[in-house]
Amino acid sequence: MITIHLVPHGAEQPMSLSCKPGQSLMQAAVAANVHGIEAECGGLLTCATCHVYVREPFASSLPPAGSDELGMLEFTASPRRPNSRLSCQIDLSAAVDGLTVDLPPTQT
Ligand code: FES
Repeated sequence: MITIHLVPHGAEQPMSLSCKPGQSLMQAAVAANVHGIEAECGGLLTCATCHVYVREPFASSLPPAGSDELGMLEFTASPRRPNSRLSCQIDLSAAVDGLTVDLPPTQT
């Protein structure tokens, strides 16, 4: 199991989840009923409602966004930042144990 941390917009404390590797960050968040990840398309890269802001050191160490993800990041409801990613494209593995992301103010 690995641990990930999601910080709701305006909150000080993260929600911490223990997750099995092999799923996406979006899938783990949806399974845990995390408020703030809509994931309307279910991970098909057509909605941008799974937007998160990835904190360092993971923002720099994650595999870079592909062209499809970069395209969808143009359509986030909240402002896009340099550390914006779509959580359906972040694979959970031991390499991201301790991953911390901030949730945007809105997804729609
Ligand atoms: Fe729709 Fe990620 S869940 S783009």
